[in-house]
Amino acid sequence: MSEATTSDFLGSLRRAVSNVHLYPKGHPQSDVALDMLTETTGAMAAGYDQVVLSMMDNAFYLDRQLLPQASLEYRDIYRLLHGRGLDSISIVGRPTIGDLAELADFLADEGSDIPADGTIRLNERPYNRSELLKQASMSEIRRSYTASLDFLTGVAESMAEEDGADITDAVWTVEQLLEQVLLQPGSSLLLSTLKTHDEYTFYHSINTCLLALTVGQAIGLTNEQLIELGVGSLLHDLGKIRVPIEVIQYPGRLDDAMWAEIKRHPHEGAQAILAGSGRGQEVAALVALEHHARYDLTGYPAVARRERLHLYSRITAICDVYDALTTRRAYKRAMPPASALKIVIQGAAEGQLDPDLVQVFVSILGIFPAGSLLRLDTGEVAVVVAAGHDGDAMQAAIAVGTDGERIVHPEPFELSVGRVTDLVLPDEVGLDPASLVESAHLDHN
Ligand SMILES: [Fe+2]
Repeated sequence: MSEATTSDFLGSLRRAVSNVHLYPKGHPQSDVALDMLTETTGAMAAGYDQVVLSMMDNAFYLDRQLLPQASLEYRDIYRLLHGRGLDSISIVGRPTIGDLAELADFLADEGSDIPADGTIRLNERPYNRSELLKQASMSEIRRSYTASLDFLTGVAESMAEEDGADITDAVWTVEQLLEQVLLQPGSSLLLSTLKTHDEYTFYHSINTCLLALTVGQAIGLTNEQLIELGVGSLLHDLGKIRVPIEVIQYPGRLDDAMWAEIKRHPHEGAQAILAGSGRGQEVAALVALEHHARYDLTGYPAVARRERLHLYSRITAICDVYDALTTRRAYKRAMPPASALKIVIQGAAEGQLDPDLVQVFVSILGIFPAGSLLRLDTGEVAVVVAAGHDGDAMQAAIAVGTDGERIVHPEPFELSVGRVTDLVLPDEVGLDPASLVESAHLDHN
């Protein structure tokens, strides 16, 4: 049972439901979609008499396991299921194509209720809320993360309709994230530094905010200051919503006209924040305006009449660069965390980023941040489970043995930096560092 097979199931369920709307019954396209749905349902339930997919607080659970990735990626399906009043879908035995067709019809609002004795059963609720909430400590921060995504989606929608952005919930959103950073610094940092999803402005904004809050906490900002910093870093790239998507996602070298479009986003963002918030978020607007201005003021837009950027802009710039480098995009692979950290350090040496803050940043993340995949002197590949801080050794777990075989449920151990011979990209070895780290935490908590 894995998150990947559940994601496949959710993807094919989405397709089957939309085909009900598009094609008449018995159309070859619908049959293809239903075959696929039968296959993915079978794969998800393989080896079990019964599996239960539960929906709660914007998250999917397969049996009692929280599925963070699927929860973030299949939000539309979550809404659809939720909208049809579903809390759980139980799959009993081998699902039949007929039962799955009924499920698709029901979800597309074209079928009546599902018969209670089939292979698909709705809302049997074998797990109650507290059972699902007994998850590892990651689930709370996941929920804050999802709530933040909701908030940002709303902001984007409001920006499409009006001049300003509706950011009335910004403070509340940052408070939720901050609470997690304060309560569980390790977990929230882990979430922000691990990602296998594609680049997406909203994810990037939340990651940048989580990282910025962690830096802010490390340098001793008060809670009030942390909220200001958090709102600024969360909204720093808001102006990108006004830049044409073709330019944002353009895979090649940008020409002058495209570059000029990109360079507008700090201004656009600052304007939207000011127009949307009335008084009170001037600092957030300043962060949006300054986040590409660079420490030596050589970036854009020109900040001629000031000696130095706002502290929050300098923090946001570091977190922005780091998160952008470690995120996969349509046209480039994600960089390993340790290599991204090197570029951040280089940025400080070249005067683009605040060197004192970069030092803080590096000390927080460790030389090899959690989620880094490392080749060891034995030829094994290890995943960093917890970065080393302040002289403490990092914790790692072997993911691939000397014979190239995957290791299931490895014991974490103290790994010294001297044993590392190389950095490995997830794609090279077909591993998902996020789930490796998370399962190591779940196994040993
Ligand atoms: Fe930006």
